[in-house]
Amino acid sequence: MSETVFLNGEFIAREKAYISPEDRGFYFADGVYEVIRCFKGSLFSYEEHIQRLKRSLSETRIKFRDIKSLDSVCKKIISKNNLEGKYADIYIQITRGVHRRMHRFPVEEISPTVYIYAYERLPSVNEMKRGVKVITRNDIRWLRCDIKSVSLLPNTLKFQEAHDENARECIFIRDGVITEASHSNVLGIKTGVVFTHPDSNLILSGITKKVVFRICNDLGIYVKESPIREEEISEFDELFITGTGNDIMPVVQLNDIVINDGVPGTITRQIQREYFRITYKKLGGEKKLWF
Ligand code: PDD
Repeated sequence: MSETVFLNGEFIAREKAYISPEDRGFYFADGVYEVIRCFKGSLFSYEEHIQRLKRSLSETRIKFRDIKSLDSVCKKIISKNNLEGKYADIYIQITRGVHRRMHRFPVEEISPTVYIYAYERLPSVNEMKRGVKVITRNDIRWLRCDIKSVSLLPNTLKFQEAHDENARECIFIRDGVITEASHSNVLGIKTGVVFTHPDSNLILSGITKKVVFRICNDLGIYVKESPIREEEISEFDELFITGTGNDIMPVVQLNDIVINDGVPGTITRQIQREYFRITYKKLGGEKKLWF
């Protein structure tokens, strides 16, 4: 059956969804996006994603007045694609709109281009149980990584290098510290304390990371928003990445460094278990925990 997508106010078949080559998203990557996880029909942390989207729109000065309508569009895109009983991701992209190429913003008001679709994505259970390998590269991105911009060429280039080395993610190093990864945040555990880069212009304020902060608070695990130095990595007992596309993913190898003898650490497992309880079990109705 054909997939239904949402483009500029209409639900249409994916094959019929076309945008102009003069879209500023195409010319300049002049747009922002969000990815929201949907657990069998329940949108996870929807309000937080919408707040972050609003912020990205305001920082890029893209005028989109209809943000309240997104809730119903997201629900409809799930139902129209028969994803209510499944684990799915919803992708939302908003660009400044269509105009002949010029650097300045168009003087006349143009409508933003809004594209939304959803697809089934099963959790990577095996990787989450066994842990994954990651690589590190210099953080070659711009200095506004707090904006969830579609301008992701550095992220995709570096992610491809990770993929070429059979690694799950590429962790970025800037000025000797871990900032984040190509599409996830990075957290490390040393003597029972969780360390991660503080929110700033150098990273995206991850929503999954914020969920982990709440879990740590409930479990009595201390979180210190202080960056991990590259030379300290081998002193860390545990490492994991978080993100809508990775849930809570233990890292057991970073470049040639084996972490925690190559198995996911105890505290990471504890956090994973709690995350799974509030998502896949509570919202998804899974009978047993995978962890
Ligand atoms: N990426 N850091 C970056 C650079 C990201 O692109 C993402 C998410 C995260 C984690 O954010 P969250 O926990 O809110 O998903 C951190 C999305 C999923 C993507 O680009 O596909």
